[in-house]
Amino acid sequence: MQTLIVHGRQPALGKAELESLYGADILRPAGDNASLLDIEPTSIDFMRLGGMVKFCKVLTILDTTKWDDIEKFLVNTTPQHFSVLPDGKLKIGLSVYGIKASPKRIQASALEIKKAGKTVGRSIRIVPNKGAAMNSAQVLHNKLTQKLGWELVFVRDGDKTILAQSIAVQDIDAYAARDQKRPYRDSRVGMLPPKLAQTIINLAGGKNETKTVLDPFCGTGVVMQEALLMGFSAHGTDLEPRMVEYSEKNLQWLKQTSRRPIAGWTVEQADATNYEWGGFDAIAGETYLGRPLSSLPDPNILNKIIQDCDTIHKKFLKNVARQTKPGLRMCIAVPAWKKKDGFAHLPTLEKLSELGYTRLSFEGANEQELIYHRPDQTVARELVVLIRK
Ligand SMILES: C[S@@+](CC[C@H](N)C(=O)[O-])C[C@H]1O[C@@H](n2cnc3c(N)ncnc32)[C@H](O)[C@@H]1O
Repeated sequence: MQTLIVHGRQPALGKAELESLYGADILRPAGDNASLLDIEPTSIDFMRLGGMVKFCKVLTILDTTKWDDIEKFLVNTTPQHFSVLPDGKLKIGLSVYGIKASPKRIQASALEIKKAGKTVGRSIRIVPNKGAAMNSAQVLHNKLTQKLGWELVFVRDGDKTILAQSIAVQDIDAYAARDQKRPYRDSRVGMLPPKLAQTIINLAGGKNETKTVLDPFCGTGVVMQEALLMGFSAHGTDLEPRMVEYSEKNLQWLKQTSRRPIAGWTVEQADATNYEWGGFDAIAGETYLGRPLSSLPDPNILNKIIQDCDTIHKKFLKNVARQTKPGLRMCIAVPAWKKKDGFAHLPTLEKLSELGYTRLSFEGANEQELIYHRPDQTVARELVVLIRK
């Protein structure tokens, strides 16, 4: 296993994403929030992995999970590596996952490394540990993945510790710009984070050869935007003319501002329950989530909302099934309503087989874990991956 990926707040989303793209056989979980992959780090396009926080090269596996032992190892071995690093002041940060060591203790070990560096004539700046692990902003803004930077990542894996070096971290600034600088946004249709849009597209595409991604509920165009940045063509439709206009204008903005080449796209007004789209290879999108809710309404009202959403989803899935061939793959983020004792799901999800679909399951993530939600949200997004039978 050569590559270590540290996932985000909901690790299962990232694990399912990796499984989709690379297959379960070259993947294994490492602790609760990381995955090991048996692929060369250089052959992975980490910029398109929405479920990744850190992307690391595995350096070695240590036969211990005791921080004292790990510190000894570091102090003994790091000086010999300093001599091969380029001249200049080095910046070092330590990130620890799943190992018993307080931020203060980790920081003290970093200072020991600094001392060891001095003995071989290296000047080192230590990035202070706010927590056990550096957050993305710290890694990014301290340039720890660049020439004079060094973030050492320690992940507990059973009775061993994986020691890795990060080579990329999620570009939170670029994600924020793609999200917030788009000229047309609408909080009523929900703000799909670009990272989640990437995960949805990766779950939809899998290992298939994809050229055109269709989003039948395109809204303001986040999925289309991310599909275009990933090198696909995009086709989007939405019932509301205003949304069609928003998507079109947002994508024009993307084309003007992006440094990456952008393929072609089409946005049209259409009802996803009866429209015939024509050529596309995968469907990725966030469907109709019902009206926004700040808290759980009265059960009768909630039932009505669920039924209304369900009718649209059932008709949409029937419409897609009648115009596609077996093997078509899609990932849709559909609503799930957070109740006191779990989630209320769309009833149609129980009838997928009758509608002509198989729901894909993942080794590294169960269905419940594929529900994206924040603590303050009533309407969550359940990621459903379907294959046309
Ligand atoms: C949750 S929003 C999608 C937001 C989108 N991901 C974005 O980037 O802004 C769902 C969208 O579905 C559209 N919609 C609702 N019913 C529809 C239908 N029957 N056919 C097509 N679009 C529909 C709404 O107008 C809305 O824009």
